Amino acid sequence: MPGHFFSFEGPEGAGKTTVITKLTAFLKEKGFDVVSTREPGGIEIAEEIRAIILNPLHTKMDGRTEALLYAAARRQHLVEKIIPALESGKIVLCDRFIDSSLAYQGFARGLGVDEVLSINQFAIDKYFPSLTVYFDLDPQIGLERIEKNQSREINRLDMESLSFHNKVRQGYLQLAERFSDRIVTIDASKSIDEVFDMTVTIVMEKISRR
Ligand SMILES: Nc1ncnc2c1ncn2[C@@H]1O[C@H](COP(=O)(O)OP(=O)(O)O)[C@@H](O)[C@H]1O
Ligand SMILES: [Mg+2]
Repeated sequence: MPGHFFSFEGPEGAGKTTVITKLTAFLKEKGFDVVSTREPGGIEIAEEIRAIILNPLHTKMDGRTEALLYAAARRQHLVEKIIPALESGKIVLCDRFIDSSLAYQGFARGLGVDEVLSINQFAIDKYFPSLTVYFDLDPQIGLERIEKNQSREINRLDMESLSFHNKVRQGYLQLAERFSDRIVTIDASKSIDEVFDMTVTIVMEKISRR
């Protein structure tokens, strides 16, 4: 596969969108062909699958059904957008990918990391990212960054979901240990410039190694 497939993980407010935007510009400036994407990636079939997942009327949705549908949407986004980009030699930067399913649904929701991994392995086949940058951050800080932008108080519901997000973080940290040759952890509590510089170093090292 001539291109590079990199994914970016971490909680909301960790800086994924900020860094991917800056990194896309940086890499383009260096002359690389870059595609930045996020699921469902504007892919019609993937959008429709997600509409089924997110439909508030679907209160009977089973956890495993949901995990399978996410994996199905991921497959379609991969096939229609990511694989063609990789085959034409592009660098693909994906905002969240398989590890989000593993951390959120497998670990935090309790479906089982190995169970969610196995259906996702079927969905993505050999197309694992060669590098995953995990922005590690106390979810409380991520929430505060977002709140600060929306100038709204942290309410009880936000606080309640915080324990869930702490679990997600534990999930990510375990994944980083388990897949240590793929996942690189960055301390996302640092400034945007520091986080960006660390990301550039890691990404450029990966690109130059091949
Ligand atoms: N390292 C950082 N330090 C302080 N604020 C940050 C940092 N990274 C991002 N932010 C701010 O936090 C908010 C959420 O960032 P964003 O990139 O959208 O996060 P994500 O995509 O991971 O949810 C934005 O207002 C952004 O400017
Ligand atoms: Mg984002």
